[in-house]
Amino acid sequence: MKIIVTGSSSGIGRAIALKFLQCGHEVSGIDILPPTITHDRYTHIAADISRDDLPDIADVDILINNAGVQNSGKDIDVNLKGTMRVTDKYGVRAGIRSVVFIASASATTGSEFSEYVASKGGMVAYMKNVALRIAPFGGTSNSISPGGVTTPLNAHVMEDQSLWAQIMEETPLKKWASAEEIAEWTYFVAVINRSMTAQDIIIDNGESARAHFVW
Ligand SMILES: NC(=O)c1ccc[n+]([C@@H]2O[C@H](COP(=O)([O-])OP(=O)(O)OC[C@H]3O[C@@H](n4cnc5c(N)ncnc54)[C@H](O)[C@@H]3O)[C@@H](O)[C@H]2O)c1
Repeated sequence: MKIIVTGSSSGIGRAIALKFLQCGHEVSGIDILPPTITHDRYTHIAADISRDDLPDIADVDILINNAGVQNSGKDIDVNLKGTMRVTDKYGVRAGIRSVVFIASASATTGSEFSEYVASKGGMVAYMKNVALRIAPFGGTSNSISPGGVTTPLNAHVMEDQSLWAQIMEETPLKKWASAEEIAEWTYFVAVINRSMTAQDIIIDNGESARAHFVW
């Protein structure tokens, strides 16, 4: 199948692109950074999802909306408006099989940077709107909302022993997910799943379930 993955040069997006390539698919990656994947079925598109000059790509089967920024001053422009632009261009069409959004557990908890949280909350609402629009084509739309994932986005806290210890204190399973694990979830939701749509799946090692029980 023909897959588009945004933000394919780093972290979760790169792991997702590699997973689809490993499973025999054709992948076009869109990123502002140069490619970090060399494969005969991988095409790199150097583009900014928050701009209007995205190239035409015909007959996309699966769209993975992963590109994102955090506390950048343009989180709404990239994470929400950019993702909407990409989806309306490539994902809402007859023949689409699935659209997956990489949102964030913070879309539900509200507990991160304000603009980031708003961008991801908006993304989850938009995901449901897309589900209704592509259902007539038999396509599914869902989001995966990770808590902490060990990617370069989080170098700041992963490299600080004291901050990392505080994070682990707040995390029931005492670990973060790997980018490869999120890629496995994404593959399942996009390819194996045929009946779930308009749903947000939180994968956060129990972070959002943590509450102090007082008795
Ligand atoms: N790492 C985490 O803990 C975590 C948790 C929850 C959600 N997420 C989300 O997962 C997604 C991937 O995060 P990551 O940790 O792999 O980050 P990352 O910084 O490692 O990778 C993000 C990729 O997106 C690309 N990108 C950024 N802005 C872009 C733009 N305007 N146009 C095209 N490409 C652009 C970057 O160049 C980069 O390659 C993001 O949407 C992020 O919000 C990450």
